[in-house]
Formats: sequence, C-alpha cells, structure tokens
Amino acid sequence: MIVLGIETSCDETAVAIVTVDREVLARQVFSQLKDHQKFGGVVPEVAARAHLARLPAMVQDTVASLDIDFADLEAIAATTGPGLIGGLLVGSMLGQGLALAHGKPFYSINHLEGHILSPRLEQDIDFPYLVLLVSGGHTQFVKVNGVEDYQLLGTTIDDAVGEAFDKTAKLLGLEYPGGPEIEKLAQSGNSTAFDFPRSMKGRAGCDFSFSGLKTAVRYALEEESNIKQGFVQQNIAASFQAAVGDIVCDRLQNALEMAGEIHTVVVAGGVAANQYLRGRMEDVCKNLGLAFHAPPLELCTDNADMIAWAAVERLKAGIAPDTDVKARPRWPLNELGKKAA
Ligand code: KG4
Ligand code: ZN
Repeated sequence: MIVLGIETSCDETAVAIVTVDREVLARQVFSQLKDHQKFGGVVPEVAARAHLARLPAMVQDTVASLDIDFADLEAIAATTGPGLIGGLLVGSMLGQGLALAHGKPFYSINHLEGHILSPRLEQDIDFPYLVLLVSGGHTQFVKVNGVEDYQLLGTTIDDAVGEAFDKTAKLLGLEYPGGPEIEKLAQSGNSTAFDFPRSMKGRAGCDFSFSGLKTAVRYALEEESNIKQGFVQQNIAASFQAAVGDIVCDRLQNALEMAGEIHTVVVAGGVAANQYLRGRMEDVCKNLGLAFHAPPLELCTDNADMIAWAAVERLKAGIAPDTDVKARPRWPLNELGKKAA
C-alpha cells in the first residue's frame, strides 16, 4: 500500500511517496528560501505562486522516479491547513484533482498532525506519547493518545519559539530563517553573559511566553556598554538560546505531570533541528527515566513524508477520507475529527 503526500502550507514545496511499512520510497523538498530571503520573511503571495510554478512537475517526477503510475497509489493526501491560504489551495486542488482523475480517495491532512505523527514513520512509538511541537508558527505540548485523539496541554500566549529565534536573529542582523544562524553563533558565545528573562518559569501549567525575551535582547543591543564588549552577538545568541532551553525544560516537567502515564517524549517541527535544545530535553527525560526521540533533520523541517504518513495512519485506523474538504488557515488539532465549520 503506497500513498502520495503533498505539502504546500508555508515555504516548502514537498512531495513524497510512503508505504504502509514506513518506507519512504521517494521524496522531494524544494525550499523557497531564496524567493523570500530578500523580504526577511515568508511573503504569502510569493509562496503561493512558487508552489504553483513547481508542484505539478515535482509530483510528476516523484511518481515517474519509481516507475509506477497514479493507478498504483492507495490514496492521495495534501495539507489543507493550518498555513498560508494560497499555498494550501494550490496543494489541495492538485491533490484533489489527481484523486478525482484517477478514482483515488483524497485525504485532507492537518499540518500539525503531520508533524506530531511523523516520529512513528521512523520508529515504533506506542500511543500515548508527549510531543513538543516547535516551529515558526507553533509552540505546543500535545499528548498524542491515538490517531485523531490529540490533547493540547499548553501553548504560547504570544510568539512561537521559532518566531522568537527569527526575530532575535533579525535584531542581530542575521538572515532569515534565524534559528540555524543563532545556533551557529551561540557555539562561540558565552551563555551566561546576559541574564535574559525565563518567562513563565515556575508557573503552573505548560504555556510559554517569548515576547519578553525578545524585548530583553533588543535592550541588550541598544546598551552601548554591551556593544563595546566585543563578541556581543555571539554572547547574545548563546544567552538567548540558554534562556529558551531553561524555559523549555521547566515547561516540559509540568507538561509531563499533566500528561500522566507517558513513556516517550518527542520533539517535532523546525526548531527541533536545534541540537542544543534537543540535548537539554534529552537530559530532562534521562533523569526521569523516559525515552526521548528527536526525528532526523529532514523530518523536523517541513516535508511531505509526514503528510503521506498521516494519511497512512488514517487508513490503518479505518478513518474515512473527508468528503467536504476545506483549506483552513487556522485549524487547531483538537478540532480534528469534528465537522468543519
Ligand atoms: O516547521 P518549520 O520548518 O516551518 C513551520 O511550520 O514554521 O519551522 C521553521 C522554523 C523557523 O522559525 C526556523 O528559524 C526554525 O524553525 N529553525 C530553528 C533551527 N532550524 C530551523 N530554530 C532553532 N534552531 C535551529 N537549528
Ligand atoms: Zn511545519
């Protein structure tokens, strides 16, 4: 059984073909980074046009690379939310069009569900498990009880953690996306040089807040005496990353208490590519005797493997494809399985 997945919710155009036995037979990811970099962030219309220009040929190449035909697919899946509406429409229209033309079921996939189920594409991980989903648009602790059974334990009350990385990087004059740039700079910086705030630390629950941290970085940069110190950029990057690490570890301990019986913790989403944060989370889990899993980098950032896989999980769970497909810029995980408004 093989499924074709399409991902176009943000600035990656991606196509993949995945088997029910967790084999990724073919994958293509085109990053639009260069199209957006000059604007310092993702421009929705530029993204939609770039998806439209590249997606059809990518689908054709991916299928052709395996010497198969559309008739050999069990189902076709595309991300239909949450994300930028233009891209969602491009991907879901092509996916539905192909499904219609070849008489295949179409699975409408939630991008966040793709991220949180993706670790099961790579390893045997039993339900329930706890996921920290950290990307440019999302920061959430989710208890994954089963397919379509997701319990949101905590989220950010302001910026997403990836957004905090990106905004801090911008203040430091670094390129978009800022996460990898900050991680690189931090390696040669002193993480105790600046005492940045650990917002929410010690508070009940597992919500996050990052706007104070970003403001503190701005003040530190405006302080003339800091600029004279030298290595200020490296030190800010390292101190910022250490603050994020402390916040994540504090919130993780509370999330685990809230989740109850959990044996595995998973980190997913673009920020999960950060080796320092992975290490910090792994230490917390080790101390508590829990398994910790961080997917390989290509599964952390946006990809279509996870979209095809989410459809496989749905097929295996006997969940029927949607007949009423909607592209949804906003689509919280706890609305899955309920009728769209
Ligand atoms: O999941 P993703 O590829 O796209 C969204 O759905 O948002 O995540 C992109 C985010 C960006 O904010 C980027 O700066 C961040 O992930 N990111 C990182 C690292 N690599 C990517 N943040 C921190 N450290 C990294 N190494
Ligand atoms: Zn994502």
